[in-house]
Amino acid sequence: MKTAIILGSVRKVRLGERVAKWVLESARAKNIDIELLDLKEYPLPFFDEPESPIMSKGNFINPAAMQWGAKLSEFDAFIFVAPEYNYSYSGVLKNALDYVYAQFKEKPAAIISYSGGPYAGVRMTQLLRNLLTAQGAVTLQEIINIAKAQEAINEDGTLVNEHFKEALDKQLNSLNSWHEVLKLKRAK
Ligand SMILES: Cc1cc2nc3c(=O)[nH]c(=O)nc-3n(C[C@H](O)[C@H](O)[C@H](O)COP(=O)(O)O)c2cc1C
Repeated sequence: MKTAIILGSVRKVRLGERVAKWVLESARAKNIDIELLDLKEYPLPFFDEPESPIMSKGNFINPAAMQWGAKLSEFDAFIFVAPEYNYSYSGVLKNALDYVYAQFKEKPAAIISYSGGPYAGVRMTQLLRNLLTAQGAVTLQEIINIAKAQEAINEDGTLVNEHFKEALDKQLNSLNSWHEVLKLKRAK
């Protein structure tokens, strides 16, 4: 299962980086083939292509968009590590997702929300699920919400709140199960 982590923040100093590191290292320890995709490395303008991704089938004018779409096509499964901005997902994540379509179709997608405060990004998760459904992804029931992520995970990605270890184990197992099912579906 070739898996991508997509981090939904591009701030210079971002809480999400430690969350992404924790997921990356935990998955690697389970021998999952996993890569962190940092939206900072894909400087996409606000979507301004002449055709929608459904119509253009990913043939974009902007080279960064071509690169982003091609990169996502490499993966079988996705984990979104996403902050909540104004009760929703970040603008940069929405924009990056507007650039693609087929790349998520019939593939499993897990969501891990986090916040610096007590609400853990729960409001955002429902909206992100909806968006991913529009793109044909199968979103997992096993959502993880991390409140006060600065206290739950150290800067180097080591876990402080052990509760999340079990939650991530379950989520990764579910991602793998859905991958096995959806791989067959895509092959039909
Ligand atoms: C524009 C903006 C909007 C925010 N809105 C929310 C919010 O709706 N709910 C919440 O729990 N935290 C909110 N926060 C606080 C974030 O949880 C906190 O800043 C966190 O560090 C953001 O993740 P990041 O550092 O990886 O970008 C917001 C932060 C920003 C910058």
